[in-house]
Amino acid sequence: LRQKYLDAIAGAGDEAALEDLRVQAVGKKGEVSLKMRELGKMSPEERQVMGPKLNALKDEINSALAAKKAALADAALDERLRTEWLDVTLPGRHRRVGTVHPVSQVTEEVTTIFADMGFSVAEGPQVETDWHNFDALNIPAEHPTRTEMDTFYMAQAEGDDRPPHVLRTHTSPVQIRAMELAGAPLRVICPGRVYRADYDQTHTPMFHQVEGLAIDRDISMANLKWCLEEFCRAFFEVDEVELRFRASHFPFTEPSAEVDLRCSWEGGQLKVGQGDDWMEILGSGMVHPKVLAAGNIDPDQWQGFAFGIGIDRLAMLKYGIPDLRAFFDSDLRWLKHYGFAA
Ligand code: PHE
Repeated sequence: LRQKYLDAIAGAGDEAALEDLRVQAVGKKGEVSLKMRELGKMSPEERQVMGPKLNALKDEINSALAAKKAALADAALDERLRTEWLDVTLPGRHRRVGTVHPVSQVTEEVTTIFADMGFSVAEGPQVETDWHNFDALNIPAEHPTRTEMDTFYMAQAEGDDRPPHVLRTHTSPVQIRAMELAGAPLRVICPGRVYRADYDQTHTPMFHQVEGLAIDRDISMANLKWCLEEFCRAFFEVDEVELRFRASHFPFTEPSAEVDLRCSWEGGQLKVGQGDDWMEILGSGMVHPKVLAAGNIDPDQWQGFAFGIGIDRLAMLKYGIPDLRAFFDSDLRWLKHYGFAA
């Protein structure tokens, strides 16, 4: 019996086989256990001889089991060490970390600054109805602005009875949509892509604007001026800014003003709030009564201001980038050079 089990244990290939042997030998109904139970039927003399022998056998089998179990575990570990090695001296694999595109970054900054002033964000479609993009903004069919804006018109198939659509030429149609949706009072900014057929160093056919609109009972140009100054201080991270409101014309605002920022260029670096240069940064004005009416808001009860800022232009200024087209070339070397990619 002893040799049978010691041989079997030595030859066991894995832990499961060992467990089977344990049950067979010293388990409750194992061979050794049964023999031990028979001790009761023996005479005291026989028992005195067999008792210690069986106990010793049981101990021997148990320790043989334990020793084999440890040996199997060692072998398994050796096997893992042999097959699952890792060369820690190999150079690490380089991971490219994605970063935020400068235009997205500036959009986020602008949105955050106006959010702090109580503006919520609104969005509208990039393929816009001709009506929202022009008519509702007091730009009737024959108005020269339609051609000045180099509009992309959507092709319309014969028999298509949907209203004509354009790629929106500015974010101002979102003013109308916000008014239609929320009514007055209202404070929204609308960032997004806009399109015009134009291409040179400072123009790309797709670019970005952020529209601002505030409507209340007695909003004035003074509120507009404060908001824009506050925005410029936060965006350009300076304590003092000086804005110049230049009389201008937009069909959807009356009066209208283009706004310039006092600045200087020192060694290619923009300094805001000082110097003798003026940089045009946005268009603005008091919302035209016809535009309020188009947005279902009663112009006798409400008034408001609106402005439209070129986001790409802000990004060019803030980061000293001379060519707008580079923004949209997806050239990693360029992005890295300006610190926009790792
Ligand atoms: N929509 C005008 C543009 O794209 C900017 C603007 C917005 C002007 C709001 C006045 C008020 O040029």
